[in-house]
Amino acid sequence: MSAASLEVADLQVSYDGVPALHGVSLKVDAGKIVALVGGNGNGKSTTLRAIAGLNAANAGSIRLDGRDLVGVRAHQRVPLGLSLVPEGRRLFPRLTALRNLELGAFARENGAEVAASIDEMFDLFPILKERAQQLAGTMSGGEQQMLAIARGLMARPRLLMLDEPSWGIAPKFVTKVLDVIQRVNERGVTILLVEQNLHKALGIAHRGYVIQTGRIVMEGDAQSLLHDDGVKKAYLGL
Ligand SMILES: Nc1ncnc2c1ncn2[C@@H]1O[C@H](COP(=O)(O)OP(=O)(O)O)[C@@H](O)[C@H]1O
Ligand SMILES: [Mg+2]
Repeated sequence: MSAASLEVADLQVSYDGVPALHGVSLKVDAGKIVALVGGNGNGKSTTLRAIAGLNAANAGSIRLDGRDLVGVRAHQRVPLGLSLVPEGRRLFPRLTALRNLELGAFARENGAEVAASIDEMFDLFPILKERAQQLAGTMSGGEQQMLAIARGLMARPRLLMLDEPSWGIAPKFVTKVLDVIQRVNERGVTILLVEQNLHKALGIAHRGYVIQTGRIVMEGDAQSLLHDDGVKKAYLGL
């Protein structure tokens, strides 16, 4: 297992003929954390879903370690190393935390290895060990986000995409979530992190992209973007 690289070039996606992405290009080097930031409705989720194979691309290319993913279906992208922690978490609320974790390993066959991964998740997120037999829907927002990330990791991704993991959770959990993302990255997983909150995302990222109405309007290393007035303007749509 090694960290994957991703290169998206000129990606175009429409909903019912209405363009949402007008040619998005971005690069995520192996082993890095890259943030894609932008306000609501600008195409962040559409970009991640297209990379995961959940939205069809009209044009452009998506390359994982140089391999073009055109024609590779969503469930086939998981064993190649892509995993998406979706917006709003999308857990199975009436199943236990443990069962949700197990379902994250749907593409894996070796039961002993899956069991070892569950232990790893309990190590990374001790709260999930306590909550293992609890129904996911009865956990707090922050705990559910931890579970969603752990479920995403159960696929053993080489590139993990997270769609607004800080959304709707208490501040103390936001810090924890960002910390966990960094730890996962240090274990050799490339990260593509989508956030509305540019300070949080760029604070842990190596590089960043700003997306506005379906176009990348700025890119650069995370620290310089954080201190660039142009970013705030682009961000606010000024
Ligand atoms: N399922 C959908 N059907 C139609 N339009 C959609 C759908 N999902 C997103 N859109 C539109 O695509 C654009 C980008 O949305 P989205 O990718 O969800 O933005 P973000 O994640 O940055 O908030 C918006 O104009 C949104 O209204
Ligand atoms: Mg979104």
